[in-house]
Amino acid sequence: MPARLVSIINMKGGVGKSTTSVSLAEALAVHHRRRVLLIDLDPQTNASIMLAGPDKWNELREAERTLDFYFEAYALQEKPKPFKSLVEPRVSDLKGKPDVSLCAAAPEFRMVERDMIESFVKRGFHIDAIQKWICERFAHGLRSVVNEMDFILIDCPPGISLFAEAALIAADTIIVPTIPDYVSRLGLITFRRRALRLINERRGEASNLFVLTTKYDETMSLHRSEAGLLKENLGEAMFDVRIPQHVDIAKAAEWSETQRTFEQKYGAMAPVVKKLGEEFLAKMELAPAL
Ligand SMILES: Nc1ncnc2c1ncn2[C@@H]1O[C@H](COP(=O)(O)OP(=O)(O)O)[C@@H](O)[C@H]1O
Ligand SMILES: [Mg+2]
Repeated sequence: MPARLVSIINMKGGVGKSTTSVSLAEALAVHHRRRVLLIDLDPQTNASIMLAGPDKWNELREAERTLDFYFEAYALQEKPKPFKSLVEPRVSDLKGKPDVSLCAAAPEFRMVERDMIESFVKRGFHIDAIQKWICERFAHGLRSVVNEMDFILIDCPPGISLFAEAALIAADTIIVPTIPDYVSRLGLITFRRRALRLINERRGEASNLFVLTTKYDETMSLHRSEAGLLKENLGEAMFDVRIPQHVDIAKAAEWSETQRTFEQKYGAMAPVVKKLGEEFLAKMELAPAL
């Protein structure tokens, strides 16, 4: 069975997209022996550094094995290296080297997107054509790895970008990490409508879009009521597990030179992250693949 493609996306930054991508990848690999590839589409590169550590990440950049090189070749109308060659296996700092691979991003990705658009515009292409082209190239790359993985998680940049849109379109499942406050809930409703329309245009059926409460502070009545409202509005589309605002989640994001167990890495949050993996798998079983 080819890998399920899961995009972790939200227009807002700082909501825990990268944190969720990495922790879910590790939970699936460690507790369920799944083969997971994380694709970092964000030029802020947080997921790449969290997962591979600064040294390995620098090695990948020096070897030109980051996503910007793949797309830059297209902008320069050169033949890109195979997408597969970007995939670095077993990158996590967890003991036992679980099967988590990384396709890393670099800050240059931002400029590459801009250069690509400029190069296409000069050649007389419309933005829709550029978007379609990026989607096709991305899908082409994904096809080359899809049979070697169980899950491909795509950590998206915040805001509107052609690459985020491509990830939305490529995915068979979308996870939207959301902080339970008023502004986020309003933003979420707008985003969800748009995402569902985009996906449904392509698939012609109800899509798999799940919302995950992140940075949840149980002591705040606003968080409690907003999280409750989300559940009321979204029902099954909502994860029951809520990721608390907790120092152990932040600490897990710091790369460790010495390998650690899942429990050492996630501390008091280990059971929550484990639960996230379990609930994700249960949802995926019910949700149709593409
Ligand atoms: N549940 C949490 N508890 C504490 N800190 C968190 C939590 N989730 C994320 N963070 C921290 O918040 C910051 C933003 O998280 P990140 O995952 O990078 O967000 P995004 O990818 O949406 O921009 C990071 O410094 C991260 O360590
Ligand atoms: Mg991020």
